[in-house]
Amino acid sequence: MLALMKASPKPAPRKPNSAAKLAGSIAARLDRPVVLVGLMGSGKSAVGRRAAKQLGIGFKDSDQLIVKAAGISIAEIFELAGEVKFREMERKTLSKLALASPQIIATGGGAFCQDDTADLLLQHTLTIWLKASPATLLSRIGNTKTRPMLHNGDPLATLTHLDKQRARLYKKAHIHLDTDGLSTFTAMMALLHALDTHLPRQ
Ligand code: S3P
Repeated sequence: MLALMKASPKPAPRKPNSAAKLAGSIAARLDRPVVLVGLMGSGKSAVGRRAAKQLGIGFKDSDQLIVKAAGISIAEIFELAGEVKFREMERKTLSKLALASPQIIATGGGAFCQDDTADLLLQHTLTIWLKASPATLLSRIGNTKTRPMLHNGDPLATLTHLDKQRARLYKKAHIHLDTDGLSTFTAMMALLHALDTHLPRQ
């Protein structure tokens, strides 16, 4: 009876997943952390986390590390200690991360706008500016309560103002990536392609 049963067709050999292949090649060439900069809502954390997973490397979020160390939220740090103190905590956190092994680091939106922090990141890491229009940023942010920079006035007007004010600083980043209209996955793929183009072939 068994002998009469048709042998099931052999599964077709699996094609190597192109994202995985690309990620493997990039991970082998990365010799420093990749740091994502840009305004609130640009996708630094969401895209960064996904890219790190695809590359098989670690992911750190500087805001999250600051919150963990302080034991209070970013909004509370701003309220209780002030922005200057927050920027100091941010610089200290990023100066440690900048010298760590290759990994993806999401920064808070203002980090790269502090000259000493930007100099440090430009020297020791590969920086990527995730760009998006103020309207896109606001649609991605959703709840503005967690963003102290958006507590006063109209959030869209504030984002438009910050965009104008900060673009010349974000421009210093090694790679620029426009994420308008991109999903987290397509932005992550665009980031991988940008890294692939930027990193020297071995
Ligand atoms: C800030 C952005 C926030 C956070 C803080 C200040 C800024 O991070 O660091 O509220 O100055 O743009 P996200 O960009 O992750 O929202």
